[in-house]
Parts: sequence; structure tokens; C-alpha cells
Amino acid sequence: MRHLISAADLSRDEAVQILDTAEEMARVADRPIKKLPTLRGRTVVNLFFEDSTRTRTSFEVAEKRLSADVINFAAKGSSVSKGESLKDTAQTLEAMGVDAVVVRHGASGAPQRLATTGWIDAAVINAGDGTHQHPTQALLDAFTLRRRLLGPEPMGADLKGRRVTLVGDILHSRVARSNVDLLHTLGAHVTLVAPPTLLPVGVETWPCEISYDLDAALGEADAVMMLRVQRERMNAAYFPTEREYARRYGLDGQRMARMPEHAVVMHPGPMVRGMEITAEVADSPRCTVIEQVANGVSVRMAVLYLLLGGQEPAPTHSRPAAV
Ligand code: CP
Repeated sequence: MRHLISAADLSRDEAVQILDTAEEMARVADRPIKKLPTLRGRTVVNLFFEDSTRTRTSFEVAEKRLSADVINFAAKGSSVSKGESLKDTAQTLEAMGVDAVVVRHGASGAPQRLATTGWIDAAVINAGDGTHQHPTQALLDAFTLRRRLLGPEPMGADLKGRRVTLVGDILHSRVARSNVDLLHTLGAHVTLVAPPTLLPVGVETWPCEISYDLDAALGEADAVMMLRVQRERMNAAYFPTEREYARRYGLDGQRMARMPEHAVVMHPGPMVRGMEITAEVADSPRCTVIEQVANGVSVRMAVLYLLLGGQEPAPTHSRPAAV
């Protein structure tokens, strides 16, 4: 694996290898000194053209736990505001000797372009592109599901036969696309529940079932993943009203009580309390949202380790040939 662009690119064995490596990385968090020397001398740039709380900080913690040198680049306040392109920005950063680029971009396909055009040699990790993919989110969700449904350190296991229901704005959700791909690869049965206006064209070809009835979909789920309505990607004309949306597609305490006793509630964050999820559900012990964030560090450490662990550090382009 040279880059991580899409959850759809991972085979079952590659995905399980990442999850198993993440289990080993999770042990580092329990040590008094939470650091490994694995990426000492490597430089990783976090190249964020869109806002983020969890993904950016989680990658930074993961990189620092592996002893990498970290550059945080936010498009806001950079020369992007003067018109500099993605290509020129990436090449400028790579000239400083960057080994990996973690990129979040509003345009679907931007990480793929960085990885395949030859603009840069660094490894590319997709931290969320438009409505397309968010592979490390799907991996941390799978990691959380494995632990919650199969028990501690379920090495080598996939999610065969488990039932996961994703609810909400599927149309704009890179988390939904990545999860459908990865959960299918890991053998899980996925059901999408959404209003018809928030389902993408062609969804019937995805490897999952589709339902418009949340109450009917809850009874057999091992996990219910609630998704935020992404107003920032919507034309105001088709905003659902908050009250109507919450009534039909929101998860409250009454609905949660209809889920099987072992079933968990997931959310990638950020949550809009009162719309897709009530505070009662968000704060309940069945909700894994904070656990998902903690697991994200271990999963991102695993991805960085597997992509960079065995490689030689990148040359700095301005470095003299001999000193
Ligand atoms: N889940 C997720 O991607 O959150 P952020 O947008 O805060 O990174």
C-alpha cells in the first residue's frame, strides 16, 4: 500500500491488517510515555483545505506518537487565499522534504490527483475529500465495531454477518460511502435509512439495502450510525426542517430502546444535538462517539506506520549532494 485514498481500495486482508496493527498501537496509549521511535526523521504535513476538529488533531497526535516531524498547514491564512493551486502548494511543501501528505479537501478527487499525477512523490492519505471518501473514519468505525461487538483485541477478525444501519444525509456523506465500502469488504450487512431527497443517484447499485423507515430498521441492528445533515453542502431550497427531520430520522431515547440490548449508537462527529441525535442518546453509555475519537488515533498510527514504516526518508530538494 503506497497511498490511502479510498476504503474501496482495501482488500479484506489489508483492512484486517490495519485494524490488527491499530490494536497494537492502542497499547502505546496505556504507557506512561506514549511514544514510539518508528517515524523518527520522517516529516508529515497535514494539508487541510476544509475545517476539521477530530481528523486533523487525531492525525497530529498519531504522527507525534510515532515521533514524526509534523507540519500543520491550513488553507485559511496561507497563500491559497492568493490563488496558489493545490499542485503548487503540495510541491512547495514537498520541496522541504515531506514524506507523507495527509489531505482534506472540499473537492472530491483532490487526494487522488495528488497521488496519481506525479506532482509529488510523498505518500498521500485522504483525510476526507468532498462527498467522496473518508477512509480513516471508516477504519476507526470498523475498529470500534470490532471491539464493541466481538470483545477486546479481536485479532484477525472481520465483521461477517453483523448488521450496521447508517441514518441521515447519505447524499453528502463521505463517511457513508467509506463505511458502505469497508463494511461490505469486512462481511457486514449494511442498511441505509434516509429521506429520498438525501440519497444519491445510483445508490441502488451500492452493496447495501435502502429503507425510508427508521423504526423498522432499528430492531435487528448491531450498530446504528447517525450522520449529520450537511447544510454547508446543500442548496437552502432542500433543507429539511429541523423538527420534521428529528421526528422521522432522529434518534431519541424511545427509539434507542427499540434497538437490541447489545447494539451501539455511533456518530462520526460533529453531532448536531436535537436534530439527528438527542442529548440523552449522545450521552448514553451505548453511544461510542468519544470512543471512536480515541480509536482514531490508534488507527491513524497504524496507517502511517504501514505506509511509511519501511521507507527511506524523503530527500529535501534543496539539500546539497554532499556535505
Ligand atoms: N469525523 C470527522 O471527520 O470530524 P472532523 O470534521 O472534525 O474532522
